[in-house]
Formats: sequence, C-alpha cells, structure tokens
Amino acid sequence: ISRRRLLGTAGATGLVLGAAGGAVGYAAAPAEATPLSSVGEGRAMFHGKHQPGITEGLPARGHLIAFDLAPGAGRKEAAALLRRWSDTARRLMAGEPSADGDTGVAQDAGPSSLTLTFGFGHSFFARTGLEKQRPAALDPLPDFSSDHLDKARSDGDLWVQIGAHDALVAFHALRAVQKDAGSAARVRWQMNGFNRSPGTTTRPMTARNLMGQIDGTRNPKSSESDFDQRIFVPANGAPAWMANGSYVVVRRIRMLLDDWEKLAVKEQEAVVGRRKSDGAPLSGGTETSEMDLEKTDSAGNLVVPINAHARITRPDQNGGAAMLRRPLSYHDGIDPDGVPDAGLLFVCWQADPLRGFVPVQRKLDRGDALTPFLRHEASGLYAVPGGAAENEYVGQRLLE
Ligand code: HEM
Repeated sequence: ISRRRLLGTAGATGLVLGAAGGAVGYAAAPAEATPLSSVGEGRAMFHGKHQPGITEGLPARGHLIAFDLAPGAGRKEAAALLRRWSDTARRLMAGEPSADGDTGVAQDAGPSSLTLTFGFGHSFFARTGLEKQRPAALDPLPDFSSDHLDKARSDGDLWVQIGAHDALVAFHALRAVQKDAGSAARVRWQMNGFNRSPGTTTRPMTARNLMGQIDGTRNPKSSESDFDQRIFVPANGAPAWMANGSYVVVRRIRMLLDDWEKLAVKEQEAVVGRRKSDGAPLSGGTETSEMDLEKTDSAGNLVVPINAHARITRPDQNGGAAMLRRPLSYHDGIDPDGVPDAGLLFVCWQADPLRGFVPVQRKLDRGDALTPFLRHEASGLYAVPGGAAENEYVGQRLLE
C-alpha cells in the first residue's frame, strides 16, 4: 500500500489499513505501510451472541472498574450511559478513536485484542426502579469465614472489565470509560492487573500466577459439549434480558507471599496437588493427564493430598459446580511493613453462581491447603447481559 493511499484512507476515517487490508489502528505520524505486529492486530468483536472478554485468552493487561449511579441518576441516565459505553467499546475495539475528545494515548497501536465487558450489580436495580427484573442469581454472596472484605472496594451498581495485550491500549479504554460516565456515575473502585505478554514463551502455555503455579489447566473448554450450559444463561433463560449472558464473581485475593515462599517446592506442590514446573498432577503424567485421586505411595498416603486445592475444587467433588476462571495478577506496591500487596484478581464466569463459585468457595472456606496463604479482600457479583446485536447497546433489553 502506498503512503499516499494510506493517508487518503486515514484522512477520511482516522484509520490505517494494515497489510492484510483490515482496519488496524489510527493514522500514525510516519504513515509507512509497515504492518502492525501480530499483537497489535489482534481484534475481538464487540457485537455478537456473548459480550467479549469472557472466552478469550488472558489479556496481558487488565482493568476492572465499578461505578455507582450519581444521586438523581436513574434508568434514563443509565440507558444513555450504556449507549455511550457501547459506542466507545465498538470503536476502541476496532482500533478507532472514541467519538469525542479522544486522548490519543492508543494512537500508534492496533486494537491489541482489546475487550470491554459491562455488568450490573445488585444495587443497580433498586436505583433504577427495575427490581422486578433483578435476577435471583444476583442475591448477595454468602459470608465466608475467611473473608476480610473492604466494602469500599466491593460491589457497585455497574462494573466494567477491560482487557488488552497492550498497557497503553488498556489505559486508553479505561480513561474513555471513565469520561463517558460523566455526571451519570461515579467511580466506586478500580483495580489493575496483568498476565504474561503474548509471544514470551516458545509455545502457547497455560499462564502462571504470582505463586508461580500453572493456573487455568482445568478450565472448561469451549470445545466441550457442556461449556455453554456451564458458563452462559441459555437463550430462553430467565430473566429474558439475560439471554446468552453470564454471571461474574470478582474477588481481590491477596497472596501471603512471604509465607508461601518459605515453603519448599515439594510442600508447595502438595498444597495444590500439581507439579510446579509443568502443572502435571502429582499422580503423574503431563499437565493435561487425568488426576488419579486414589493413588497412594508406598506408605499408603494419598499422592494428591486430601486437602490439595486442585482436588477440592474439582467439579466431581462439588456436585458438578464449574466456572471459567479468567483472572489477572495484581501488584499494588509494598506495604510499609515490607509485605507485597500482590495476588490475584480472581474473575470467574458461570451461568449460575449457586452452581459455580458459591459451593466451591464454601468448600475452600472449610479448609483446603491453599486457603492459609490467601486473603479475600474485596468481592463483587455482577449480571453480564448477552452481547449487543448490530444497532443495539449492551443492556438495551433491560433498560428500554
Ligand atoms: C484450580 C490456584 C483460588 C477454583 C487451580 C489450580 C491452581 C489454582 C494452581 C490448578 C490448575 C488448574 O486447573 O487451573 C489458585 C490460586 C487461587 C485460587 C492461586 C487464589 C489466589 C480459587 C478460588 C476458586 C478456585 C477462590 C473458587 C471458589 C478453582 C477451580 C479449579 C482450580 C474450579 C479447577 C478444578 C478442576 O476442574 O479440576 N487453582 N486458585 N480457585 N481452582 Fe483455584
């Protein structure tokens, strides 16, 4: 593509065409026809059956932000806000600038697999006079004995998840979402996280968390026949506005890394029931081998300890309870006493939290080997409606 053609295209729309002809980003200053790297080119679709940001792989950078509607703002203002947010999401996910006052922060980059996902918290429905539409699945989560929850960093009327493989692209979207909120909603809390960047391993691998474990091995796979049933509200499910939607549980889980790192690798492996190096079950094989729950050593002890996290959390140990975990690691600096404020922004998706997160967390709360090394510091549960059709905004079926 000649420089001239590029500039001509860019002049009209602000877009540059990549080598493959797809819209990949803003007009960059020296408009050479160099294709963006594969990371920048990655693009998720805004319109679809489900919202983006649920089944995609882990983003290298993520932001979570919750808002409360401003005093006096109700259903009308909420509908206008969701319309603005949807327009921004559609544009930014295509690598275009936001409608007005774009900050320019992402202008040299492609969409970098940016996703924006929107949800409603329990308190949203009373604020907007929509209590009759509030799903029973949004009933507050039970208290867990090991909770140390900060209310100011929990819950919220509205929740937005942003993910991208580039930190500037993700921040750009965060800022746009905040600016769109205008006088309709105020930020309640905001959290930042990260995962390994794409291209850093020689082959695609399951991610590691800040404890160094391979984390995500046994996540439900979209190729499995019961995947949709586990993760999404059916198309004819109730309430109707949640068709093809999902419920997300968000927990800020501090890792007590000083304690964890004192353990020998063998002890760490016994806590989880999997090998640290490759994530294989302690009963043998590779990462994807089936865990043998009955296997004993020569002394007759279970090879995968009875309280190992990966044993306790299995669907077959919890009446089939399953969830899709799509977390971010976080590091918010070091406390004055030298303790790292780091851990996991645990984000998990399910068709019904009472058949996903709740029974499993109840079980963990009664004592698995990992719980002594964790502290749940914040919590949220949100109803994430299905994806917006063309010419529709997210949540329109609830708000109009
Ligand atoms: C599995 C780590 C919190 C539910 C695992 C695995 C690891 C791990 C290393 C094994 C590999 C895998 O299958 O992904 C952690 C860490 C946590 C944490 C570091 C906290 C910081 C939780 C919580 C829940 C949970 C709060 C739910 C209440 C699960 C489930 C599995 C799993 C469902 C897969 C079980 C299976 O299908 O076999 N976790 N986990 N985890 N964890 Fe956690």
